[in-house]
Amino acid sequence: MSNNNKKLFLETYGCQMNVADSEVVASIMEHDGFTITKIREEADVILVNTCSVRENAETRVRGRVQGFSELKKKNPKLLIGVIGCMAERLGEKLFEQEKNVNIVVGPDAYMDLPLLVKKAENGEKAINIELSLTETYKDICPSRIDETSISGFVSIMRGCNNFCTYCIVPYTRGRERSRNPESILKEVLDLAEKGYKEVTLLGQNVNSFVYKNSVSEVSFPELLEMVAISVPNLRIRFATSHPKDMSDDTLNIIAKYNNICNFIHLPVQSGSDSVLKDMRRKYTQDWYKDRIEAIRRIIPGCGISSDIFCGFHNESEEDFNDTIELMKWAKFDLAYMFKYSERPGTFAYKNLDDNVPENVKQRRLEEMIVLQNQISLENNQSDIGKIFEVLIEGISKRSEQDVYGRTSQNKVIVFPKKDYQVGDFANVIVKKCTKATLIGEAV
Ligand code: 5AD
Ligand code: SF4
Repeated sequence: MSNNNKKLFLETYGCQMNVADSEVVASIMEHDGFTITKIREEADVILVNTCSVRENAETRVRGRVQGFSELKKKNPKLLIGVIGCMAERLGEKLFEQEKNVNIVVGPDAYMDLPLLVKKAENGEKAINIELSLTETYKDICPSRIDETSISGFVSIMRGCNNFCTYCIVPYTRGRERSRNPESILKEVLDLAEKGYKEVTLLGQNVNSFVYKNSVSEVSFPELLEMVAISVPNLRIRFATSHPKDMSDDTLNIIAKYNNICNFIHLPVQSGSDSVLKDMRRKYTQDWYKDRIEAIRRIIPGCGISSDIFCGFHNESEEDFNDTIELMKWAKFDLAYMFKYSERPGTFAYKNLDDNVPENVKQRRLEEMIVLQNQISLENNQSDIGKIFEVLIEGISKRSEQDVYGRTSQNKVIVFPKKDYQVGDFANVIVKKCTKATLIGEAV
């Protein structure tokens, strides 16, 4: 232990994968003698785990890092590190652009953090943004920093090989690699032992998970089945699925095991075949619809959510209308909606003009949001009178008499607490709803 009594403050932006990575970072730093603090003012080191997927995600982080000037004035020894996708994308430039930054570490170099902190303490340059073809942090047992301890993440693979033309992830997170199923199962069992009730298996494209060694090969549906059997009392979720690889085998496994949640996040991105082609998504509108139909056939009542963005290269009114029509057809329970944000370094940045004007992007985004709000409300209304099994995640922020949790379909539901405890399962009948929340009563 070389950093006894030092305190680390960790802040996480971006996707669920970053939340999981921060737990790996916490574990690596704890092994080096650090303790994790929730109080910024007492930190010796602050690490900000960052996202590059859209420009505004990076702008937020820059604002945050600049805001640390006050803390640095009070404690001149304070070290600030930028880690994750922004570190990978910007590298050395971060030291020049953000004067508060002392340490820069990419997503595959976290094992090097203790050494880099020491270098920074000695006033040396502390940067490692090497990407790896093999690093999966398989020997690190993540430190669970979330205090609720109901729902945890386990990353099953890293990186992405899809190179959708708009996306920075293959450049910041490197090539796809799947983790050894043994180490995945060990981590899942560790969560169960710690009293967790739900685990989400994470990867940029979980359906292409494949682990090979000299004797065998494990696919995603096989891994899902192994996890479902090994922790029969835990709920299992996974994200994210790519429509091109969403197989009936996976859907059949979800249908077969009660503890695998009936919920699928299936980002469509656009409803227009020509835009999908420019995005290099490798499917058409028809293919996507076929996958939605398969989900509804094999897993009746399955919750479905999506990611959609407007204003990509050459998106015409007609293309946009295809997206609107697809949304009306698919009736997603939830959708994350964005405007296209051009990312330096991507194929689109180099070859496909960002030629939809900002005001048009904005208008299209607003149109999508209005439509999706209406669809989410109608979907929720159709749940009224139905009974769902709910995992209770916490006390409602609005009233101490109420608890909230999620249905298997991933819908948030609020209901009177009575004698229930956080972490319990309850059967709840839906009485009312808003577009975002179901409201019910335990039966
Ligand atoms: N601009 C806007 N949205 C993007 N996404 C990924 N890259 C971009 C970009 N350059 C969205 C996609 C993806 C989600 C995580 O972020 O919808 O599924
Ligand atoms: Fe980005 Fe496409 Fe990979 Fe998703 S599948 S991380 S959108 S490149």
